[in-house]
Amino acid sequence: MFMLRGKKALITGGTAGIGRQIAIVFAKQGASVAIFGTNRERGVKVVEELQSCRVDEGQEFLFEPVNVSSKQETEMVIQKVLEKWEKIDVLVNNAGITRDGLLMKMSEQDWDEVIDVNLKSVYNTSQTLIRSMLKRKSGKIINISSIVGLTGNPGQANYAASKSGIIGFTKALAQEVATRGINVNCIAPGFIETAMTEKLTEQQKSEILKKIPMSRIGTPQDVADVALFLASDASNYITGQVITVDGGMVM
Ligand SMILES: NC(=O)c1ccc[n+]([C@@H]2O[C@H](COP(=O)([O-])OP(=O)(O)OC[C@H]3O[C@@H](n4cnc5c(N)ncnc54)[C@H](OP(=O)(O)O)[C@@H]3O)[C@@H](O)[C@H]2O)c1
Repeated sequence: MFMLRGKKALITGGTAGIGRQIAIVFAKQGASVAIFGTNRERGVKVVEELQSCRVDEGQEFLFEPVNVSSKQETEMVIQKVLEKWEKIDVLVNNAGITRDGLLMKMSEQDWDEVIDVNLKSVYNTSQTLIRSMLKRKSGKIINISSIVGLTGNPGQANYAASKSGIIGFTKALAQEVATRGINVNCIAPGFIETAMTEKLTEQQKSEILKKIPMSRIGTPQDVADVALFLASDASNYITGQVITVDGGMVM
């Protein structure tokens, strides 16, 4: 039911953490996968890992070095992938960064970088791809938001704004394309074990654990499983939704 045989997927921020795991899960279900990121070394390594997950002769795996906050760069590389593959069935907007700090001290650069990488990138990729999905009357767009986009978090005004923005974007676009066979949904992860959360001290982690009803920090696999559901035909009647993957933190 969750098979992705013959599907082509594009995952931004596929070089690490949650994006890498989504790429692996998609590859294991038969999809061809293109990952975007800025770290060439990591990108090449993930493509090697994807090759070893192959279940179908025809699967292709690509890494493209792209800074997704640049519209021009993103557009150019997506066109290149489209020329090669003719279609992209699944777009996962996952690239994201944090530049935490209280608003009082937040620099304009920290504000702009977070908004550009986390939110503008979603416009950059979706705007470039939507025409081809509309023509084919088919497509799945999966945007990785955060529970912080639902609840806010002190010290993360820039990050929370970008993640709330993604939710608004998702709901607007979902309505624009609902009659055209395109589903647009969000995943809002809670605390997931990746490089992004590894900066937390043990004390901070144990404070967070107290707020998680399931009493464990999530894994990239927890998020990737939901991404697979949203990428598959099993979610064909679901659009404009935010699915939290947070061990029950936000109910
Ligand atoms: N971990 C959590 O607890 C958590 C919770 C809620 C939401 N999220 C969201 O989940 C997503 C993935 O986070 P993660 O935890 O997996 O973080 P991560 O391990 O730090 O990975 C972030 C990914 O984003 C890519 N990236 C960053 N800037 C980019 C740019 N300008 N252009 C292209 N790619 C860029 C990175 O690739 P390069 O290094 O190759 O550029 C990397 O692949 C993010 O949107 C994050 O906000 C994470």
